[in-house]
Amino acid sequence: MPVLPKAELHVHIEGTLEPELAFTLAERNGITLPHPTIDDLRAAYSFTDLQSFLDLYYSLTDVLRTEQDFTDLAEAYLTRAAAQGVRHAEIFFDPQAHTTRGISLDTVLNGLGAALDTSEQHHGISTALILCFLRDRPATEALNTLRQARPHLDRITAVGLDSAEAGHPPEKFTHVFDAARDLGLRCVAHAGEEGPASYIWQALNLLKVDRIDHGIRCLEDPDLVAHLAATQTPLTVCPFSNVRLRAVQNLADHPLPALMDAGLLVTVNSDDPAYFGGYIHDNYQGLRQHLGLDETALRRLARNSFTASFLPTQRRDALIAELDTHPAH
Ligand code: ADE
Ligand code: ZN
Repeated sequence: MPVLPKAELHVHIEGTLEPELAFTLAERNGITLPHPTIDDLRAAYSFTDLQSFLDLYYSLTDVLRTEQDFTDLAEAYLTRAAAQGVRHAEIFFDPQAHTTRGISLDTVLNGLGAALDTSEQHHGISTALILCFLRDRPATEALNTLRQARPHLDRITAVGLDSAEAGHPPEKFTHVFDAARDLGLRCVAHAGEEGPASYIWQALNLLKVDRIDHGIRCLEDPDLVAHLAATQTPLTVCPFSNVRLRAVQNLADHPLPALMDAGLLVTVNSDDPAYFGGYIHDNYQGLRQHLGLDETALRRLARNSFTASFLPTQRRDALIAELDTHPAH
């Protein structure tokens, strides 16, 4: 199966921290991890739901302390992404996971920026950054995070909303997203991963998002599916993630074909690839193996990824042309 050129629109940079790099950074920073060996750490990558994953995800961010750590993290992701056909990446980061530990936004953004600034030249990957607010923390803290980000807006394309979804509806962040839009930022939000279809409606109507991250539970509301199809609002679907976090039992049961058949603008992404058993091309391959998606369907997903991106028209069209002329084998 060819490694198709594609965009990645849903990847958390903190979720690309491979166990090997976690140990390297822990050693460099004089930190003792709760897991004595890499194999012990890998064995902990068995999750029962979103929260059980987030507990480990946030605890491992502790190894990220310096600008160099964030540069190394992003550089490792970009290297892997290039091998998986990624030509454009819109990358989430969670400032509050760092500022609440005393790591400044300057450190995070200077570190990530150093890798992103050379990404097109070194890896052929254009990039954008999406600043995510943690929905299980107060909206006042999100607003404060947005205020801290103001001097860095040249580095930030959009805001997003992530972390524990159940019990944390988008409506809580309406004024934060209004303020972000006033600053010229695009808006996305995780919705309908574990939370109900009503959270997707809220993300659309109150947060006025350009894309829905995950969104698979839209299928519980036919009016919502019709609306998403009519507006061609993109969904950034993450199949491996849904299986590992048990939103879906097996890849063979994944609703992605149903979403495509309903005429939605579906994209495929890796979410937290270090934790969920594969990067973006691995997800495409999984869909072929377990859901029988053929090359036409996979090419449609790759094309959708460029259509749904925040790329300027010229590069977007150039990448679509590259995909269309990419050989089948
Ligand atoms: N943060 C990192 N990965 C996430 C996911 N899949 N859902 C919500 N928050 C996240
Ligand atoms: Zn996510």
